Amino acid sequence: MSSDTLSITDNRTNKAIEIPIDRGTVRATDLRQLKTDEYDFGLITYDPGYMNTGSCRSRITFIDGDQGILRYRGYPIEQLAEDSTHLECSWLLLNGELPTRSSLTSWENQIVGNMAVNEAFKPFMSSFWHDAHPMGMVQAALAALGTFHPSAKKVHDREERQIHIRNLIAQVPTLAAYAYRHNAGLPYVGPDSMLSYTGNFLNMMFSRGETRHRPHQVLERALDVLFILHADHEQNCSTSTMRMVGSAMTDPYAALSAASAALYGPLHGGANEAVLTMLREIGNKENIPEFIKGVKAGQGRLMGFGHRVYKNYDPRARIVKRCADEVFEVTGRNPLIEIASELERIALEDEYFIRRKLYPNVDFYSGVIYEAMGFPTEMFTVLFAVARTVGWLAQWEELLCDSDQKIARPRQIYEGEEIRDYVPMEKRH
Ligand code: CMC
Repeated sequence: MSSDTLSITDNRTNKAIEIPIDRGTVRATDLRQLKTDEYDFGLITYDPGYMNTGSCRSRITFIDGDQGILRYRGYPIEQLAEDSTHLECSWLLLNGELPTRSSLTSWENQIVGNMAVNEAFKPFMSSFWHDAHPMGMVQAALAALGTFHPSAKKVHDREERQIHIRNLIAQVPTLAAYAYRHNAGLPYVGPDSMLSYTGNFLNMMFSRGETRHRPHQVLERALDVLFILHADHEQNCSTSTMRMVGSAMTDPYAALSAASAALYGPLHGGANEAVLTMLREIGNKENIPEFIKGVKAGQGRLMGFGHRVYKNYDPRARIVKRCADEVFEVTGRNPLIEIASELERIALEDEYFIRRKLYPNVDFYSGVIYEAMGFPTEMFTVLFAVARTVGWLAQWEELLCDSDQKIARPRQIYEGEEIRDYVPMEKRH
């Protein structure tokens, strides 16, 4: 008997099967051989929240949650955050290798040269209510942008896919900045080909009148590092949504809109906004013990703490914390950092958090940096979406090139009524 197999005996029928184990994984469909009779569908696995189900094979991002390791295409996140740029990482995530100097220059020019969205977009953005949440606007804008690009439906055409991947990476920051300016009642500012990707985003956000916004180099670099840290994170809720919607051969604009809707939730990318709200509610360090007591009693969660995969310090949180110090040297210290640091210290010494292996995640400190840079709280998740766009698209491209993939369609365990006859209204009680 081969050692890379699993032997299972179904005690209902005494049937024994041997199924292959490949890279620590068994195929769920192999279990279908176990049936109680010929009409039985066969054994299925029950896994709410996909706690233990591999939905794809991927070569993009590696995470070891117990050791706190994150790598893009094999490169440690710490090295990329130190030496790379968001656009270089985007190339890496999409193509699997670091670009040569000429490929990088050409890629940067293509992206920055494509940041302008169709003029017709301005009235579309202006039609939102003045205090619409920017994340809602960006979701809707992504779906709307797809209507300007009917050729994006040709998802089996590699060249078309490349065009729309490039368009989306280039234009999501523009949509994000438009959403902000709509809320702020400011005229939209288009991209400027003389600026970098991140510099352009900051200019489209913060430029006033005719004056080009010249961000401090430290702040521009810090934002780029934050974009690197958020660029991909394998099969999380929004990325799985991108793959699920993409598996129906939906165009990438609509799929990205769906992925951003998943990101919006406070348990996922919306946590950075929720952390700031939480820190403001706590108000000062003296209130922390009472707050922690409430969390332990089940009255809400410590936002920015805990992760499905990391059972150790999130490596991104470590880098974000360092980044915060650099940013505060320029902007002055955000007073909320004192509350956040003390909250972390107390939580990490508390039995409740230790036993459950709850550590700060990427969202715990990112918000205090964004706030110090001048972004309103509602924009935090939008910033996450700008950065994650490349990860969603790299995963979408991988899905479409994977012959194992099919339309995503989980099964259910039906627990409802057996067949029964329709009851006329007068006989119901
Ligand atoms: N505060 C207090 N208790 C928590 C927290 C928290 N932040 N996170 C988990 N727990 C407890 C939870 O109550 C449960 O306790 P018990 O075993 O007594 O029932 C235990 O820890 C396991 O939690 P879980 O909900 O089963 O874990 P999960 O893997 O399903 O959830 C999570 C992961 C990220 C949704 C969760 O930790 C959470 O809600 N964190 C706060 C929101 C947050 O910061 N989200 C951002 C995640 S990182 C950015 C991203 O990629 O999205």
